[in-house]
Amino acid sequence: MSQNLNEVSAGFERFNRAADNNKAVILTQLKRLLGTGERVLEIGSGSGQHAVFFSDAMPDITWQPSDTEPYFKALRLNLERVSIANLMSPCYLDVSAFNAPGRFNTVYCANVFHIMPADLIEPMFDGVAQALLPGGRFVVYGPFKYGGEYTTPSNAQFNEWLLANGKHQGIRDIERLQEAASAVGMSLVEDIAMPANNQLLLFSL
Ligand SMILES: C[S@@+](CC[C@H](N)C(=O)[O-])C[C@H]1O[C@@H](n2cnc3c(N)ncnc32)[C@H](O)[C@@H]1O
Repeated sequence: MSQNLNEVSAGFERFNRAADNNKAVILTQLKRLLGTGERVLEIGSGSGQHAVFFSDAMPDITWQPSDTEPYFKALRLNLERVSIANLMSPCYLDVSAFNAPGRFNTVYCANVFHIMPADLIEPMFDGVAQALLPGGRFVVYGPFKYGGEYTTPSNAQFNEWLLANGKHQGIRDIERLQEAASAVGMSLVEDIAMPANNQLLLFSL
């Protein structure tokens, strides 16, 4: 490890407990999916906890974090505090005006679809498809609905909480993501049940 990450975690602005809890299980999947020397663009990096943990754990992967308001300032401050050679400075990227800094083997995002407005699902896939190199993949982590149903009662409660905190928020239908993917030549090739009622989705070009 390039530094004491527990010490770093304590210093994260906008620290997210869930991101700390899920990082190890997501890393296991990323190590299985990513190839040596690949470039990853992360959308909605938040505090940067995942960016720091994954880039430190996979030194041969170039990790490009990004975010928009209200997280961008905290993300930049948090990443200035660490020194990891394969972790790039964060770029400002809002899905509503997708401007990827180059092309990537993988685009990754965790817990973004239920936070951003639903009408950004299609622009998200459009931007991702343009940001990916041929054969690239889109790795998505978060809760989803299937056939209009929540996977668990606690996800239904979580959705109520999301709506109470912002009318544009909500757990999305997997079918809408699949349709948006299909429109840009991508398809869902893996759907893995993860702890805490989340899924890890793998879309491929
Ligand atoms: C719940 S946080 C998740 C942060 C981090 N990925 C994690 O798992 O801890 C949701 C993230 O989605 C980002 N987000 C929301 N709307 C967005 C948009 N239009 N474009 C890019 N990111 C967006 C937020 O800024 C925030 O970083």
